[in-house]
Amino acid sequence: MPEQIVVVAKLQPFFIELLNRKYTVHDLTGHAGPADIPGLDPASVRAAVTRGEAMFPAAFMDQLPALELIANFGVGYDGIDAAAAIERGIAVTNTPDVLTDETANLCLALVLAVTRRVVEADRFLRAGGWKQGEFGMASSIIGKTAGVVGLGRIGQAVAKRLEACGAKVVYNDVAAKPDVGWRYYGDLVEMARASDLVVNTCVGGAATRGLINAAVIDAMKPEAFFISASRGSIVDEPALVKALAEGRIAGAGMDVFLDEPNVPAPLLSMDNVVLLPHTGSRTRETWRAMADLCMANMERYYRGEPLLTPVAGASDRPRRVR
Ligand code: 8YV
Repeated sequence: MPEQIVVVAKLQPFFIELLNRKYTVHDLTGHAGPADIPGLDPASVRAAVTRGEAMFPAAFMDQLPALELIANFGVGYDGIDAAAAIERGIAVTNTPDVLTDETANLCLALVLAVTRRVVEADRFLRAGGWKQGEFGMASSIIGKTAGVVGLGRIGQAVAKRLEACGAKVVYNDVAAKPDVGWRYYGDLVEMARASDLVVNTCVGGAATRGLINAAVIDAMKPEAFFISASRGSIVDEPALVKALAEGRIAGAGMDVFLDEPNVPAPLLSMDNVVLLPHTGSRTRETWRAMADLCMANMERYYRGEPLLTPVAGASDRPRRVR
């Protein structure tokens, strides 16, 4: 008998197909809970698959009394109440590393798209503007200071790319990293004041909510750009929109928002802003690698082997305690 698993967030068809080959999959998206699914005994479910942006509250864990593994598709798992899971002996796994370079590439694409006005230039050409005259000037990042907020795996990969493009990297994090050569700013406002680019690659969750607040945004230079590539929750979005609307910063590139898929309306009409629908890791190759890692964790769990990528604080051999 295949194991019963639940899927609590919308997954790509290819991933559902992979799961279907091994498990009996119950799709809980759009349902209030497992009790809603005809023929499903909630006590038979030992593993759940979710995505970082979807909510997985403690109440949900309590409706699945045998649940021992929440396998998250994505590196960020801020939608999961990980503390509640750990307390219950439920392991949470995520998909780090396999998406680092892909996400960093997209972040760099946003930096260049905004500073070099790539999207705007494309619109200009299509609208016949080139036949009327020349396109305006863009801004260089060569020799400019790029302030990376959150120097984790993705932050470091972004920093290397920015450096390869000629920018001078500085960073802010909870503590200086001993093994990097870039200048550390403990004070984010101070870093924002010194930067020509502020790049958000910071981990999401309660600890970083609103970290890039009005004081940080207001400290930015009028010719500086803001790039956001990790979680919208880290940014005071109204303050950012206000700064852009008032021309107090030069532009923004955003792949993530506070209330996805809802994007603040004023941003939609700004030419100096590039907006992406959370596509950081979204390539066929990388999403396949993420799905494979997610599956590998599940397979190891069912075989009683240590999990490959438990999140911080979670056991690699879960055992439900309540
Ligand atoms: C994904 C992400 O788009 O990994 C993450 O944290 O934000 C992205 O890679 C998403 O989480 C996949 O569901």
